[in-house]
Amino acid sequence: MSDTDLDTTARTILTENDQGGYTIPTKGLYPYQWNWDSVFVALGFATFDQDRAWREIEMLFEGQWRDGMVPHILFRKDDPSYFPGPSVWGTDGGPLPSSGHSQPPVAASVIRDLVDTDPSGSALERAAALLPGLMQWHRWFLSYRDPKSQGVLAVIHPWESGRDNLPDWDDALRAVEVKDIEPYERKDTSHVDPAMRPHKEDYDRYLSIMSACRNVDWDPAKVAKTCPFFVADPGITFIFLRANRDLLNLAERLGKTEEVAEIQNWIARMETGAKTLWHDELKAHVAVDQRTGKMTNGISSASFLALYAGLADEHTISSLQAHFDRIASKVRYLMPSYDPDHESYEPLRYWRGPVWAMINYMIARGFAEAGDAVRAEKLRADTAALIETSGFAEYFSPETAEGAGGGTFSWTAAIWLTWASPSHVEKAA
Ligand code: GLC
Repeated sequence: MSDTDLDTTARTILTENDQGGYTIPTKGLYPYQWNWDSVFVALGFATFDQDRAWREIEMLFEGQWRDGMVPHILFRKDDPSYFPGPSVWGTDGGPLPSSGHSQPPVAASVIRDLVDTDPSGSALERAAALLPGLMQWHRWFLSYRDPKSQGVLAVIHPWESGRDNLPDWDDALRAVEVKDIEPYERKDTSHVDPAMRPHKEDYDRYLSIMSACRNVDWDPAKVAKTCPFFVADPGITFIFLRANRDLLNLAERLGKTEEVAEIQNWIARMETGAKTLWHDELKAHVAVDQRTGKMTNGISSASFLALYAGLADEHTISSLQAHFDRIASKVRYLMPSYDPDHESYEPLRYWRGPVWAMINYMIARGFAEAGDAVRAEKLRADTAALIETSGFAEYFSPETAEGAGGGTFSWTAAIWLTWASPSHVEKAA
């Protein structure tokens, strides 16, 4: 298929996954509105329909909880083909049925992009309407995912990281006691090859964490204190730090002086804290189990997001460039979700090796902003080659480009349109 045909297919995927203002990640496997999926999807819509792009994010914020959280899934209509559905989550925190935790807060960054690229001026008005919700959500993260003000965000469930099956969660997950779970039937393994999905032992623990949180009625302060899983995640920490910088820019443009001062404090706290995730021997940022203090020992694709977060001192840049080149010599397509030199690496099991287009997009922005256009372009070209070879899959093998997981995937289509497509590159030139 030619690149212009791929542009058309990508727009068709977004339109067909559109449920009337919000977009599902893919039919079958993920039939609801997912948090960070929707936000990346907005970037794709923005290439041909600005109004629809804003609608996507506005509908996500319609599900915001009273305490400020924006949930990771909004169950707008019941779909028995998905497990665990609303009755298993048992939440009551917001206006719509939803899951009980959040996902990486990319929204402020994408909103800033929408404002930067929309010359009409109405974009800034729509951003202004979303600003209070964004402020509340960011405050929620600081209060309940960084309760000791350490400047790093923890996740209370592997799913909150958005990188569900990452080896970094293995030890902390193994320590979760399996209890309070009813007999259940998974649905994910009937949609895609079980060899690419998590194991049953992991699933039992995913559900046990949910039970523990349900037992405290998803009260965020109690969850922070008692949740059996509480792991500081470089991915969500870097995305949040970046999002605060973009939120600051929006607040400044909107003349919100109090908010500006508040966000500046958040940035200072996160800049100091994020550095504590640095692993001296590995020379990269890693996850830390906050219940045990133990650092993980592997480099994930999120380690490269330090640059996206603006932590671009010489030492960080040169360490990440060296890892980048080492990994590039091992696999044909960057950036594997986990280090191919690590024993837990598996090229096709999700989040243990495969490549995700939207992670490449963020890593590339970080490299470009740090002045490394060559590595940024390698990421774009690899992402384009993966999509040209295997279409709009959920994720790809870094070794063979084989597409895996769900097909006709919304965020893969969106990232193609907004960044990877050669026709987009030509337009931007
Ligand atoms: C998987 C991914 C998560 C994503 C969801 C929907 O659970 O790990 O990041 O949001 O699918 O695409």
